[in-house]
Amino acid sequence: MKTHTQLVILACLALGIVKNEAFSQQHNNDMDRFVSELMSRMTIDEKIGQLNLVTAGEAVTGSVVSTDVESKIKEGKIGGIFSMSTPQRIRAAQELAVNHSRLKIPIIFGMDVIHGYKTMFPIPLGLAASWDMELIQETARIAAMEASADGLNWTFSPMVDISRDARWGRISEGSGEDTYLGSRIAEAMVRGYQGDDLAAHNTLMACVKHFALYGAAEAGRDYNTTDMSLHRMYNEYLPPYKAAIDAGAGSVMTAFNDINGVPATANKWLMTDVLRNQWGFTGFVVTDYTAVNELIDHGLGDLQEVSALSLKAGVEMDMVGEGFLTTLKKSLDEGKVSAADIDRACRLVLEAKYKLGLFEDPFRYIDDNRAKEVILNAEHLAKARTAAGKSFVLLKNEGHVLPLKKQGTVALIGPLTNTGANMPGTWSVSADLENTPSLLEGMCDALGNQVKIVHHHGSNLLEDAAYQERATMFGRTIPRDERPEQEVIAEALAVAGQADVIIAALGESSEMSGESSSRTDISIPAVQQRLLAKLLETGKPVVLVLFTGRPLTLTWENEHVPAILNVWFGGTETGKAVADVLFGDVNPSGKLPATFPQHVGQVPLYYSHKNTGRPLADGQWFQKFRSNYLDVSNDPLYPFGYGLSYTTFAYGELTLSTTELQRDGKLQVSVDVANTGDYAGEEVVQLYIRDLAGSVTRPVKELKGFRKLHLAPGQSQQVTFDLTEEDLKFYNAELEYVAEPGEFAVFVGTNARDVQEKRFTLQ
Ligand code: NOJ
Repeated sequence: MKTHTQLVILACLALGIVKNEAFSQQHNNDMDRFVSELMSRMTIDEKIGQLNLVTAGEAVTGSVVSTDVESKIKEGKIGGIFSMSTPQRIRAAQELAVNHSRLKIPIIFGMDVIHGYKTMFPIPLGLAASWDMELIQETARIAAMEASADGLNWTFSPMVDISRDARWGRISEGSGEDTYLGSRIAEAMVRGYQGDDLAAHNTLMACVKHFALYGAAEAGRDYNTTDMSLHRMYNEYLPPYKAAIDAGAGSVMTAFNDINGVPATANKWLMTDVLRNQWGFTGFVVTDYTAVNELIDHGLGDLQEVSALSLKAGVEMDMVGEGFLTTLKKSLDEGKVSAADIDRACRLVLEAKYKLGLFEDPFRYIDDNRAKEVILNAEHLAKARTAAGKSFVLLKNEGHVLPLKKQGTVALIGPLTNTGANMPGTWSVSADLENTPSLLEGMCDALGNQVKIVHHHGSNLLEDAAYQERATMFGRTIPRDERPEQEVIAEALAVAGQADVIIAALGESSEMSGESSSRTDISIPAVQQRLLAKLLETGKPVVLVLFTGRPLTLTWENEHVPAILNVWFGGTETGKAVADVLFGDVNPSGKLPATFPQHVGQVPLYYSHKNTGRPLADGQWFQKFRSNYLDVSNDPLYPFGYGLSYTTFAYGELTLSTTELQRDGKLQVSVDVANTGDYAGEEVVQLYIRDLAGSVTRPVKELKGFRKLHLAPGQSQQVTFDLTEEDLKFYNAELEYVAEPGEFAVFVGTNARDVQEKRFTLQ
C-alpha cells in the first residue's frame, strides 16, 4: 500500500515523464521542420558534401591528408572535420562554413577522445578493471568538458568491441572479454560524454564503435576477417553496441572487418536490419577511416561501386576517403543510388548538428576561458590519479611485500621507468606527451623526501631495434642503449645494490598495443625478462610494476617474482598513483576484465566458454579423449574478475530467497562479505549464472551482476542481488530472446573461478 506522499511523488514523476516526452516530441517536430526546410534549399552537391568527413590538413591517426579543405568548406563540400587540434583552427574553419558557404551549415568537429582529452585517464581496459561505473562515467564527463571547451563536439568513443584474443592490440581500447561488464561500461561512457543535454556547451556526441565484431578478428590480427554464428553474435558480441545505443549514443562507426562474407561497412543486414529496424537507432553512421575505399581491397568493386553499396547499406558519413564526395552524384545519375538514399544520409547528419545545437550557435563549443578553467585543472588531475589507482590490479603479493614502507631507498629499474610519453597509453592523440610525468617523476613528486629513489633503465624495451622502433611510434620513443646487454645490466645492478627494495618497471610500451599493434608473443620481452631474473638474483624484495595494454603471459613471473602490480597505462597521473598503491595510501581493488592465459596457445581463452561434450572431470588437467592440451592445462594464469587487495575478504554462505523462481517473480541471492584484514579496502562481488539445460548450449558461467563494496577492517556487509526472468534470457536458435524453464546454477564470488554455487529452477 502506498502512502499519500508516495502517490503524489509517483504522479509527479509520471507527469514529468509525460512532459519530457511531449518536450522531446516537440523538439523532434521542430528538428524535422528545420531540417526539411534547409534540405529543400540544398543542391545535390551540397547534400553529398554533408556526408564528407575530412582530415584537417594533417595526418593524425592515419595517413590521409585531405586537400583543398578551405575551398571545399566554402563550396559546401564538407560536413565534418576530423582531429582538428586547436580551438583557433576550429574557429577559423567554422567561420568559413557559416560565413562563406552558401547555406552557412556549421561543421561538426570530431576527434578520438578515447580515455581523456588533455587530462588522460587509464586506457579503457584499465578503466574497465575498476568495475566502477560511476568513475568511468565521470572520466567520460571530464573528457567531454575539456574537449568541448577546445571546440570539439563529437568523440569516436566508446569502443565496445568484445575481445577474447590478447594478441589483438586493440583489446586495450575496449572493456575486455565480457558482454555484461562491457554493456554496463558502454552505457556509462555514453552518459558521461553526452550528459543530459547534447546541446549543452560541455557535452560531446558519442560514437559507438566498431560496428561490429571488430574484436573477433581472426588470429588476433588487426583488420582481419570475422566469421561468427548469429547465435554467438546476438548473445555475446552485439549487446554492448545495443547498450550504448539504448543509452542514447548519437552516432555509430562501422568496423573494418568482413562479417560472414560481407564487410561491415557494406553490410546492409547489420546497419539497416539490425541497427535501424531491430534496435531503432535514429542517429547517423560514419565509416571507420577510409573503410569505404577499403571495400575495393575486400573485393567488392571499384570506388564508385563500393561507395554506392555502402550508402545503400546504411552508412551516412564517409570518413576521410572521399568516395562519397567523388562518386555519389555519378551513381545518382546512373541510377545506382537514389535521391532518397542521399536525402536519408544528409538528413541524419543535419539532425546530429541540430541536436548538438550547432545551428543555434556554431561556436558554442569553443570557449577559451572555459578551456583555461577546465583543461588539466586540479580537480581533473585528482580524478585521474584516483582512476589510475582504481584501475591497477594486484596480481600477486607473496609474503606481504606490499605495501612498502615509506622509508629507506627504493630502486626503480627498467625501460618504463622514465618515459612520460608512454604513460598516457595508446590512443591518446590529444595528450601533451612532453609534459606528462614519467613513473619516476610522478613517484618522486608523490613521495617527496620520505623515500630515496634511485633509478636505471636496466635494458632496452626490445632487443630488436627495428621492433622497438615499430613499438614506440607517435612520439613514444624510448632511447636505446647500444652497449652490450651485460654491461647495461651490471650498471643497473649497481644501482639496485643501493636499495632496500627493487621496483621493476617492465612490460610493453604504450604502442605495443592499440591499432595495428598485434603480437604473436604476448610475454614480457625477453631482454626485460633477463633483467628481471638478474634483479631477483640480488635477493632483495622485487616488485614488478607491469605496464601492458593487454593480458600477458606471466607464468614465469608469477612463479618467481613475489609481488606483481599490473598498472596498464594509467594516464597523466600514473606515477603518483603507482606511489599511492605501492606505499599503501591506496589499497588496490582492480579486477581483471580479461583472462590472463598461461600460454599464448590457449588464446582465445575466456571464462564464459561452452562446456563441450567432453569436458574435463573436476580437478583433472589432462584426460585422454577430453577437451584439453597435452602440454598446458586449460586453466588461465589469472581468471577473469581476479585481483588481490592488501586486506582479505571472507564470504559467508550464499543464500537464495527461493529455489523456485516464478516467471513474474524475483529471486534474491545474498551473501555476507567481511573485511577480515588490516586495511580498509574495496571488493567487487561478482554474480554469475549457468543455464544447466536448454534448447541450445549455454556458457558454463555468465556474469549477470556485480557490486563494489568499500569495507573498513572488521566491517561486513550483506550483498543482495535480485534475479528475475530477464536475467536468464538469451537468444535461442530462432534468435528469439527467451528464458527457458529448468534448472540454473548461480555463483557468487571474488572472481570467475573462486565462487560458491547454489541451484534454482525457473518455472
Ligand atoms: C581508425 C580507428 O579504427 C578508429 O577507431 C578511429 O576512431 C579512426 N581511425 C579515427 O582516428
